Order: sequence, then structure tokens, then C-alpha cells
Amino acid sequence: MRRFVLIGQTAAASGEFSLEDLPSSSGRLDALLRALRSALLVSHDVRRDVCVYLVLRGGPRAPRLLRIDGSRAKFLRPDERSLAILIKKSLDAALPHVRELSEVRPGIDLCEGDLPDLLASLGDEPRYILEEGAADLRGQSLAQDAWFFLGDHQGFDAASRAQLAARGALPLSVGPRSLHAEDVVAVVNNELDRTFNAAAR
Ligand SMILES: C[S@@+](CC[C@H](N)C(=O)[O-])C[C@H]1O[C@@H](n2cnc3c(N)ncnc32)[C@H](O)[C@@H]1O
Repeated sequence: MRRFVLIGQTAAASGEFSLEDLPSSSGRLDALLRALRSALLVSHDVRRDVCVYLVLRGGPRAPRLLRIDGSRAKFLRPDERSLAILIKKSLDAALPHVRELSEVRPGIDLCEGDLPDLLASLGDEPRYILEEGAADLRGQSLAQDAWFFLGDHQGFDAASRAQLAARGALPLSVGPRSLHAEDVVAVVNNELDRTFNAAAR
């Protein structure tokens, strides 16, 4: 399983945002949704071997963790509005304050928690911080079951960077330019697809 973790420093942790004005009402959840689409969706299909975690730190219910598991997810559509509706319904699910990820829609799991909670659950899979200016991802032997951590429009906060470093995450870049997270995810998926010949999945 390939995992992408998108850290949204201001992204809404509840469904209290407007679909009519997603960027400004959701703490830039829109940017995370585009990265989610890039991580999970290919033309007319879902990547069954990819899992996406959203770390949601904005608004009343924050912090919360949302997992979208490509092996179980249903009703994923590529347009941003449909994804926003699905995530809004998931965040609005009547879920008590649980610290274990619990399914709220098919393939979508939710719990209370922040990055340290997620890091505490990791096994010994390789993990990478995706950052401009780091060592080039090309030439590295990436594992199929790696974890990839990305920042949002503000990049990484210092605490997250320190927590990731403490858990042995290696900084990697996808090239010399600062890209949008969704484009970084596309490049990483492409590199792994080429390595693992996953076109038929
Ligand atoms: C829009 S960028 C953040 C830009 C932000 N102004 C900053 O200074 O970090 C969103 C995320 O994409 C990832 N990213 C952007 N460019 C990258 C690159 N060239 N290589 C690897 N990751 C990159 C990083 O995780 C970054 O936090």
C-alpha cells in the first residue's frame, strides 16, 4: 500500500464549510482535495493500492484524521465539488469522539487525532517528507509501501517537521521548483508506477 499524508494546517475538520466558496470557507481544504484526487484516481478507475490521510487542523472539531482507502472506497468522482460533498458528509457523520479510525462511509475512516497519533501507528515502512530543496527522489530506491508526507499551501509547520524527523522521515524532492501538492503527488505516483509497473492495477 502506498500512502500519502496531506497535512492541512488550516483545513476544516468539520463539515462546516460552503460548497459555493470552498477555498475561503474550508481553510483551503480544496487544495487537499485536489491532491486526494491526484493520489487516488486514474482515468476511469481508483488506485486500489493507495491510501490517503488528511490531517485536518482547522475549525471547531480539529484536529482530526481522515483516511480514504482506495481498496475500499466507493463513489469517488474526479471533480472537486463531488469530492468536497463526499468529505463534507464524512466529516458530518455522527461519530462520537473516538481515537481509533472508524468507518463513516465506504472506505472512509475518521477519528480524533493529529500527526503524532498517526506517526505512533506506523510500522517500519519507509517514510519520506516531500519538500522542495531536498535530495532528488530520482535515483532513490523507493518502496511500494512507503509513506509520503506533504504540506499544504503554507508548507510544513516546524513541529510537524520535527515530529517527522524524529520518526526517521527522509526529505525528498521531485525537482527544483516549488509545486502544488497535487502535482507533487502525481509525480510520485508516476515514479512508483514506472518502478512497479502498476499500469494494470
Ligand atoms: C504548495 S507547496 C508549499 C509551498 C509553501 N509556500 C512552502 O514554502 O513550503 C505544498 C507542498 O508540496 C510539496 N512540494 C512542493 N514542491 C515540492 C518539490 N519540488 N519537491 C517535493 N515536494 C514539494 C511540499 O510538501 C509542500 O509543503
